[in-house]
Amino acid sequence: MQLNQMNKETPTILVLLGITGDLTAKKVVPALFSLYQKKVLSDKFRIVGFGRKPFDNESIKPFIAELVKARAKNPDPKAIEEFTNLFHYQQGLFEEARSYQALKNTLEKIQEPWKEKTNRLFYLAVPPDLYQMIFENLKSSGLSDTPDNSNVETRILVEKPFGVNSETAERLEQLLSSLFAENKIYRIDHYLAKEMVQNILTFRFSNDIFEKTWNREFIEKIEIRLWETLGVEKRGAFYDPIGALRDVGQNHLLQMLALITMDYPLDLSPAAIHVRRAQTLHALKPQTIEEIKENTYRAQYQGYGQIEGVKKGSSTETYFKIKTTLSGERWQGLPVIFESGKRMKEQRKEVVVTYRHSENCFCPSGGIHYKNRIIFSLEPVEGITIEFWSKKPGLDLVKESRTIDFVLRNNTERTQYVEEYEKLLLDCILGDQTLFVSTAEVKAMWAFIDPIVSAWEKNLVKLESYQPDTTPSDTNRVF
Ligand code: BG6
Repeated sequence: MQLNQMNKETPTILVLLGITGDLTAKKVVPALFSLYQKKVLSDKFRIVGFGRKPFDNESIKPFIAELVKARAKNPDPKAIEEFTNLFHYQQGLFEEARSYQALKNTLEKIQEPWKEKTNRLFYLAVPPDLYQMIFENLKSSGLSDTPDNSNVETRILVEKPFGVNSETAERLEQLLSSLFAENKIYRIDHYLAKEMVQNILTFRFSNDIFEKTWNREFIEKIEIRLWETLGVEKRGAFYDPIGALRDVGQNHLLQMLALITMDYPLDLSPAAIHVRRAQTLHALKPQTIEEIKENTYRAQYQGYGQIEGVKKGSSTETYFKIKTTLSGERWQGLPVIFESGKRMKEQRKEVVVTYRHSENCFCPSGGIHYKNRIIFSLEPVEGITIEFWSKKPGLDLVKESRTIDFVLRNNTERTQYVEEYEKLLLDCILGDQTLFVSTAEVKAMWAFIDPIVSAWEKNLVKLESYQPDTTPSDTNRVF
């Protein structure tokens, strides 16, 4: 079935809790507008904003129009107007029971003329400290109910962070699972929806020439890197309590590892893929204190302490590098290196798979050692590079490094986040959880990260300092 036909059949109401926030402005509204322009939304698709600010069904429209104009490239004014007509607004307080009753009435009113089973999607575009209160109110108002014979199908979308450690994540998960079945919970990690990240599985499982060597016998190490030139900027209050490891390590980097190392799923269903991703994440052994001291490095860029919202004398890391080894039959003992930082010398996001030196290397005596690398690059270009050695043209047998490159596009050719969020929103509308994170994965990721965070909090690994626009591992002995 064509995508257009499929979506046309799905009446859907998306409730945006926190419609006036940053997340809505930068990611959700631009992505919805893009979906609207691609005509993949149902004719019966509506968006209900829920928030404290004094908007109504009319005044929310120019507000949304401004958000679209601020982000979309040359948007058609008519399309903007039509798009804003999809919006309704329900003023209310997140802590107030009767606001949820009012929201319920609004949803019923919108849905009533359709006389069809309707998806209700609740998107929590709010700070995570409000999650618990909202979950509880969704439950007590009956908004989270989906009785078997009702004409409502309810799903919930939540953004990371899912807790700040194993314990808080577990509490949140318990609460969530008391309200919604696992197949109704859509936990967002936008890295899973990136083109090149999705491509990892296609590359691996559709090309036997690589998959047959995808194990510790042939591969020497895996490096996963997320370097950003930008600093923490205006996000001090959000960033300072969590730091780099919890901001991107506990989720984006570990998810990329899961895709690079998981086994072939039993089938292509979301559940089967979740099982495989979770299995690899579970195979990451939590490190002992001694290992953490030896294999982890953390640093903060100079000037971070002056950012608004950052605690005086903060010891939050803005850079980390961590080495670990994998377990399990396929990967036993394989080193994996995670590295990420803000205010790095360059923008570089990639997964590098390095092969072992070939035993039968066609090397002249004393020749250089020979390793192949496969690089999955997200930035600065999106693509895949295979590095290999070739004979340099000429009379002598001299080897030189060459590459085979697949360039999907230069990263400046896309609008940041729109592509990821449109994919995620569409998949949630369609009920496809493949690109969302399961509860088992959340648990496994925290089990690996927790001991490191706790050792760092106890200062068992010294917090180093680095100059902005440099990469600490270039100048310091990291481990
Ligand atoms: C977010 C983090 O999850 O990912 C940010 O909170 C980080 O700090 C961002 O900058 C990186 O995502 P992307 O898509 O820009 O690589």
